[in-house]
Amino acid sequence: MSKRPEQIPLGTKATTTKITVTDLDVRIRCSCPAQVRVSGATTVSSVFRLSLRVKTPLLYWLILVPFFFAFVPGLDASDSTVQARRGMVVSSHPDASRVGIEILQKGGNAVDAAVAVGFALAVVHPIAGNIGGGGFMLIHVADRKAEFTLDYRETAPRKAHRRLFEEAPQDASTVGHLASAVPGSVAGLYRAWKRFGSLPWQELVQPAVKLAAEGFQVNEPFSRALQRSQDKLSRFAESRRIFLRDGLPYQAGEVLVQSELARTLERIMRQGANGFYKGATARLIEEEMKRRGGLITASDLKSYRAKFRDPVRGTYRGLEVISMGLPSSGGMVLLQQLNMAELFPISEYTLNSTREAHLKAEIMRRAFADRAHFLGDGDFVAVPVKELLSKKYAQARTATIAEFEASKSVDASHGTPDELKNETTHYSIVDTDGNAVAATTTLNGNFGSGLTIPGGGFLMNNEMDDFTSRPGVPNMFGLIQAEANAISPRKRPLSAMTPTLVKKNGSVILVSGSPGGPTIISTVFQIILNLFDHHMSIREAVEARRIHHQWMPDEIVAETGALLPPFEAELKNMGHKITYRETIGEAHTIAIDENTSIRYGVADPRGSGKAMGY
Ligand code: DON
Repeated sequence: MSKRPEQIPLGTKATTTKITVTDLDVRIRCSCPAQVRVSGATTVSSVFRLSLRVKTPLLYWLILVPFFFAFVPGLDASDSTVQARRGMVVSSHPDASRVGIEILQKGGNAVDAAVAVGFALAVVHPIAGNIGGGGFMLIHVADRKAEFTLDYRETAPRKAHRRLFEEAPQDASTVGHLASAVPGSVAGLYRAWKRFGSLPWQELVQPAVKLAAEGFQVNEPFSRALQRSQDKLSRFAESRRIFLRDGLPYQAGEVLVQSELARTLERIMRQGANGFYKGATARLIEEEMKRRGGLITASDLKSYRAKFRDPVRGTYRGLEVISMGLPSSGGMVLLQQLNMAELFPISEYTLNSTREAHLKAEIMRRAFADRAHFLGDGDFVAVPVKELLSKKYAQARTATIAEFEASKSVDASHGTPDELKNETTHYSIVDTDGNAVAATTTLNGNFGSGLTIPGGGFLMNNEMDDFTSRPGVPNMFGLIQAEANAISPRKRPLSAMTPTLVKKNGSVILVSGSPGGPTIISTVFQIILNLFDHHMSIREAVEARRIHHQWMPDEIVAETGALLPPFEAELKNMGHKITYRETIGEAHTIAIDENTSIRYGVADPRGSGKAMGY
């Protein structure tokens, strides 16, 4: 077998070209600065390695591989890795990243910047950025060497009940008034600032007020997103008026002014969280809900609380991994997957080769089966957290992975603890002092429920669909969920959001997270494997094509180009069903060099985000 490739330090570019051929293994390694161009036509990831278990004629590989890469649709690497010594912000929108950097340069800390970025995204990225949704924030406080996780996930209204969607129209859990749970974002951002902020609150909300009142320039991806969601937005008069100009969707380059949103943000700027949960804004929400059969009341809003919770912690090959616990499944499923992955010599396998992809899929299948069965809001259901996260349990779960055959999801359902017992947005921030924030926030689907609160100018989430809204029926992400995640008044729906930190010898070396529903977890999982098993640079680790398996439906979902045809054929022979998706996740990530403390920011080229540092 070929020699293990040399380690590539985080953030640096390798410049090796290596071809090793042995009788049973073909390994081609080609790492070049930034990007590789094949046939002058297509940009592909800068590292690709291939290894084969089967005896395939070498000639076949030498001809097929370059041919294949010439036709793989490339990721547009419009923004290369950004290096900085002090602060770094990576978010889905350049205007939001700029707001964050300006706060850091004014002397604000990472939490101040996270609050300002959160509000700015609610204006310039209304696909997912929000004040009508919720999210999770993972905070590393450098001088205390401590982490905190803040849960501002939406809650079911008091009037909601487990059978709510059984009689309702089919799309009621995804579109319109019933789909919305009580928003948590403003309470979360306010709570984070109260505990850790250093600049005055007004200074953090003000940039968003300005962007809403004076407008911002619509970019191409936003214009396309509006077109894709035109039907949903058209169903609500206020959404149609504001976002579609009554039938004239904004084109790239035009300026979108959101006056009602500016006024709502001004109330928040003046009154803090009360500017949303009480008074005029709360009244506007309640009136609209009453008018059109929604359930959220002023009392639901008044009693909403964001909560600090214990992070979930684990280790992966000696590194410390810290992530979001319940009501997000993200951290738990990620740690379960890493615990299982640790039992295999992944660095000896080639990225997305038959063996590596099979193994990842089998690991994901098992962790997601456990998610479906065991996980729900820990304030409402008993979840065997410790057992599920133990290394011993991982061992038991991997015992049924066959080397050359796909399991069947029906057979590989959840373990027994007795054995041992469209669209979201993520941003990562590091400040001068080394404080770090990983925050993921969402309305759930693109533009949430489609409903804009008249007079309020903000979109409401469709997070009720993250509950087991109809038992046995897949939700909008195809997830089949169970009793633990049934609707109950004031309960939080199970999430997959995975804001994550990795620490080495006590220092943060990675800040990451992603949108993508259940694929969020697979995205973060693979970035960690790419860095610490496949020894890629941070940019390569973020760029590399991903795959996903969520137990049900029983299939590998692969990014276009992730699986070379021979590997795909082998995986199919082993019994895997494979479907393709253009992209999986959008992981705006920061790596910190443990020796030099240089911050490396990477905006995932799958989106149109921006890394900015100083
Ligand atoms: O909390 C969750 O898991 C989902 N509401 C996240 C939705 C999402 O990531 C959509 N993005 N593509």
